[in-house]
Amino acid sequence: MTKPLILMVLYPGDKHSTDEPRLLGTVENELGIRKFVEEHGYELITTANKTPAPTSTFDKYLPEAEIIITTPFYPAYLTKERLATAKKLKLCITAGVGSDNYDLEALNEKGIAVLEVTGSNVQSVAEHAVMTMSILLRNYGEGHHQAVSGGWDIAAVAKDEFDMEGKVFATVGAGRIGYRILERLVAFNPKKLLYYDYQA
Ligand SMILES: NC(=O)c1ccc[n+]([C@@H]2O[C@H](COP(=O)([O-])OP(=O)(O)OC[C@H]3O[C@@H](n4cnc5c(N)ncnc54)[C@H](O)[C@@H]3O)[C@@H](O)[C@H]2O)c1
Repeated sequence: MTKPLILMVLYPGDKHSTDEPRLLGTVENELGIRKFVEEHGYELITTANKTPAPTSTFDKYLPEAEIIITTPFYPAYLTKERLATAKKLKLCITAGVGSDNYDLEALNEKGIAVLEVTGSNVQSVAEHAVMTMSILLRNYGEGHHQAVSGGWDIAAVAKDEFDMEGKVFATVGAGRIGYRILERLVAFNPKKLLYYDYQA
């Protein structure tokens, strides 16, 4: 009897995956789950080759897969057409948060569950969001562009540069990420922090 198959799609790490073995999201480091998966009697196939359909490695193994694991960072799109070939599929796992790469309606019709790792990366996303706000408000992009291209037109930078202190910040949603963003913004001494969240 052949073993049930888990098919995983991750991004290529190349030399970076050996430089940093904790870079688990790479096709080489396989989320660190190979031993665990094999000990539980499954076969694991990991690939970065997800396009084009229907000739990619993802498409090749999809008909045999019972479980697929993908990430939002390097999405493998499970469309209705691909799903029609996935006759043995029982479960889709998102190794992260955000499952836009799955046709959720089509999966729902077939009664196939999609699981996410709720709470994963929320610090990273919140920190990234605050960084992005700061980059935009300080007009960093224009200054950086000038610095690397040898220019120095300070007025062009300064005219669109603002402080975070004293500003009103608002988020739509104040869940794991939204709330963390507001918490981090306290340090900038804002005028007000607002949120709209239909559950809070
Ligand atoms: N964690 C990650 O790695 C990651 C990365 C990128 C993007 N995201 C996305 O960021 C979003 C937030 O993630 P999270 O982990 O904070 O989720 P969460 O479930 O903790 O928080 C979402 C919040 O949004 C609120 N909400 C939903 N619909 C709303 C609406 N129409 N109006 C107002 N409030 C609404 C909910 O009540 C909830 O409190 C998700 O869409 C997620 O997919 C997450």
